[in-house]
Amino acid sequence: MCGIFGYIGVKSAAPLLVEGLRRMEYRGYDSTGIAVLNGEIQVHKKVGKVNDLKKILPKVIKGNCGISHTRWATHGGVTDENAHPHLNETSSLAIVHNGIIDNVRLLRKKLESKGIELVSETDSEVLAHMISIGLDSGQEPIEAVRQTLRKVVGTWGLCVMFKEHDMIICAANGSPLILGQGDGESFVASDPHALTPHTQSVSFLEDGDIAIIRRGGFKISRLEGGSSSTGITILEEEWGEADLGDYPHYMIKEIHEQPEALRRCISGRLDYANGNGKLGGLRLDSATLRATPHVRLIGCGTALNACKVGRLAIEKLARVPAMAHVASEFRYNDPVVDQLGLHFAVSQSGETADTLSAIKEIKLKGGLVFGIINVVGSTIARLCGRGVYIHSGPEQAVASTKAFTNMVASLLIFALRLGRTRSFSRAKGRKIIDEFKKMPDRLEKYLEDPGPIMEAVDAVKNAKSVLFLGRGLSSPVASEGALKLMEVAYIPCLSYPAGEMKHGPIALLEEGSPVVVIAPDDEMKEKTVASIHECRARGARIILIHAEGDEIASEGDISIAVPRCDPLLTPLLTVIPTQLIAYHAGLALGCDVDRPRNLAKSVTVE
Ligand code: G6P
Repeated sequence: MCGIFGYIGVKSAAPLLVEGLRRMEYRGYDSTGIAVLNGEIQVHKKVGKVNDLKKILPKVIKGNCGISHTRWATHGGVTDENAHPHLNETSSLAIVHNGIIDNVRLLRKKLESKGIELVSETDSEVLAHMISIGLDSGQEPIEAVRQTLRKVVGTWGLCVMFKEHDMIICAANGSPLILGQGDGESFVASDPHALTPHTQSVSFLEDGDIAIIRRGGFKISRLEGGSSSTGITILEEEWGEADLGDYPHYMIKEIHEQPEALRRCISGRLDYANGNGKLGGLRLDSATLRATPHVRLIGCGTALNACKVGRLAIEKLARVPAMAHVASEFRYNDPVVDQLGLHFAVSQSGETADTLSAIKEIKLKGGLVFGIINVVGSTIARLCGRGVYIHSGPEQAVASTKAFTNMVASLLIFALRLGRTRSFSRAKGRKIIDEFKKMPDRLEKYLEDPGPIMEAVDAVKNAKSVLFLGRGLSSPVASEGALKLMEVAYIPCLSYPAGEMKHGPIALLEEGSPVVVIAPDDEMKEKTVASIHECRARGARIILIHAEGDEIASEGDISIAVPRCDPLLTPLLTVIPTQLIAYHAGLALGCDVDRPRNLAKSVTVE
């Protein structure tokens, strides 16, 4: 989603800005722009990708101070005018803004009543004019930004550059900004990934921080006045830039990285001697685990589907009530938060605004919340303070794949840990661990020979809609398969617990309707077969994902076998054919599989 990169130093700013934007491309966006200071503020902005912007940039842009932005439209359509940076009327300042201004209507009206003409439909533009009014009334730049933000209700990661002042002012509230210090140069970015080629020495602005950045360093204070306690952090883990290697797309590369990613995730976390899971980052003792009345798992999209698998596993192994919550709903339903309950915020990026707002709500009500996160040092990881890094490595394709498997794996290990504080025996724990350790090899084995995926693609690619069915742990896998196909190939998909199919979605079935059924060899299998028969009786074409060697294979028109494993661990395997179907269907339909339209990798607005 929206990304910010800024630079003040001695080098030419424009190439650094473009490179900074390029490193944030994976987040998803629809337009880009840069502003560079060289006596005047020069702005270049355009709908499209960073490469499209590059085409319209003059060969040489002088100036060693600049700000830049990738925009994912919220207020106002995808147009050149709505792209950032935005200027005030006299072009004496430029701003880039991430986040949403909730009271924008009121602020726009006030500006219009002063005769100011807004040239874009964005909420962000008001900030440029409001700061400008402050400067005109004689305020220092920092004061003008401060006074402006005090009138704003909403979220911001904001950078302001001035024609008359050799500095960039930055402020953050509910949208991340990270300052980086180099030698005689300073940087600002909304994503640490854009900073790491330049410096490891960074400061993550806290909500309510405001900073002046100059060549020699930065000074952070609080919006309401007074100094900030925000310190310097050395970025520990840098993934570097994931390159495609021999793969044509990141999505397929990341699908194939799952065995290795899973190996990393479970390494050191399965304690065979005690038949237990080990998640040191939770810093939770057995007494606290024993006392918990329930577990709540919170996430969006793919992370939410992982939460749904996790909640079933927790109830199964630990016999503790567990729930999966849609993060965007959580805060607004005024949830009852039990201080003994355990809450987990599950997020690949660690930046998702809906998940962040749920965490804030839990904390406000005195609850305990832990992160299950991929990106080290991300906002959610820092806000939770305790949690589990899933160690998937960089995930660049917008559609999440290897993060799903590792989120599920982490939650399964937690279920084991929680179960072992209760009635779950060491012997049973050891049995699961034995199986768990074999899973990376099984994923590898499946990927070597994934079965008739292309037949399945032919069956779904021109369908009006595709129905995904599963029961028990396979029900959230069906949801994840449906989400993936919808995201990547733009095919309307529905997912249902198989038993619920006859209560509605059956009305959709006609001759040839594709139905993807996830039916591993577990205690639900026979019930799922009954649903298959109900579908077939209406002419549906069954794409069946089943355990290798299972006689159930004959129930499918197209049958895709995955290696056998303990029923508890099946989601780690059965999801993979659904990812492959989505990828190849997207390709067959000419879609941009790594950057599907309208989607963003990291959704930083509520
Ligand atoms: C967006 C992405 C999804 C992702 C979801 C949650 O909607 O397009 O692919 O699953 O956000 O992201 P998170 O980073 O919190 O896991």
